[in-house]
Amino acid sequence: MKLSVPAVVGLALAGLLAASAPNASAATTLAAPEIPLANVKAHLTQLSSIAAANGGNRAHGRAGYLASVNYVKGKLDAAGFTTTVQQFTASGSTGYNLIADWPGGDSNQVVMSGSHLDSVTAGAGINDNGSGSAAILETALAVSRAQLKPTKHLRFAWWGAEELGLVGSRYYVNNLPTAERAKISGYLNFDMIGSPNPGYFVYDDDPTIEQTFKNYYAGLGIPTEIETEGDGRSDHAPFKNVGVPVGGLFSGADYIKTAAQAQKWGGTSGVAFDRCYHRACDTTANISDTALGRNSNAVAYAVWTLSGAS
Ligand code: TRP
Ligand code: ZN
Repeated sequence: MKLSVPAVVGLALAGLLAASAPNASAATTLAAPEIPLANVKAHLTQLSSIAAANGGNRAHGRAGYLASVNYVKGKLDAAGFTTTVQQFTASGSTGYNLIADWPGGDSNQVVMSGSHLDSVTAGAGINDNGSGSAAILETALAVSRAQLKPTKHLRFAWWGAEELGLVGSRYYVNNLPTAERAKISGYLNFDMIGSPNPGYFVYDDDPTIEQTFKNYYAGLGIPTEIETEGDGRSDHAPFKNVGVPVGGLFSGADYIKTAAQAQKWGGTSGVAFDRCYHRACDTTANISDTALGRNSNAVAYAVWTLSGAS
């Protein structure tokens, strides 16, 4: 494995943190790779084109949603993932969850990452939630490029019908046998991670997952805050409700950035983190490259670290 300079810094950080991280050891934890921002943005461009070709959105029950599933699935199949499309019904239309398993690892210890792939009907949904969908897709592709052999089993999910009330993720959890639920050692959720006036919010749920993301941001010297913009408003909630440890990242929706937040993170106080939240202007222009890049690297860092990648 070729180590870039940032990767070496990451390796050193992983080593320093090994003493406090139960699943990491200096001897076996490899540095997570940098996730190429250009690749993440290329996925957003494709999702934008899919919306444009399908009536301007990628909403549940519309052609743009299934086209989005097929785009992501094609990339994962070509990269060696085992993919499954799970169908459900919501509001009289068929919905789809896409599940991708990376072969290998301990099937009794699953590290799962998920993002909702549906948009609202108002627009293309590029920050909400092309951003999380593209970041976990590119992380999965990085797993394949590395031919990663983690201790734990890796699973990725793209949820349908989140915007109708977490329908797809709830369907998945409700249809997962109790024994399978117990094998999920952690569920990581990424919904809105490239907000144009970003904050850096970490979910305050499972302490190990929370600390993993905090460690990543501490390494960048960037302060984080606890995510409070509506606890339970995304796909981690059904997992949390059945006792699965959860965590995640969020860069803000329609809450307003305070002066103190603008002081520490830059951007504009008195303005929403995402003023195009659930609007037609949630396009490829509605993205902070800086936030998307940092959060994509944080996704990979957490997946590598929590799975005991070696
Ligand atoms: N899930 C919401 C949506 O898709 C956005 C959102 C609001 C959110 N508050 C959150 C996402 C807190 C994660 C965490 O419209
Ligand atoms: Zn969302």
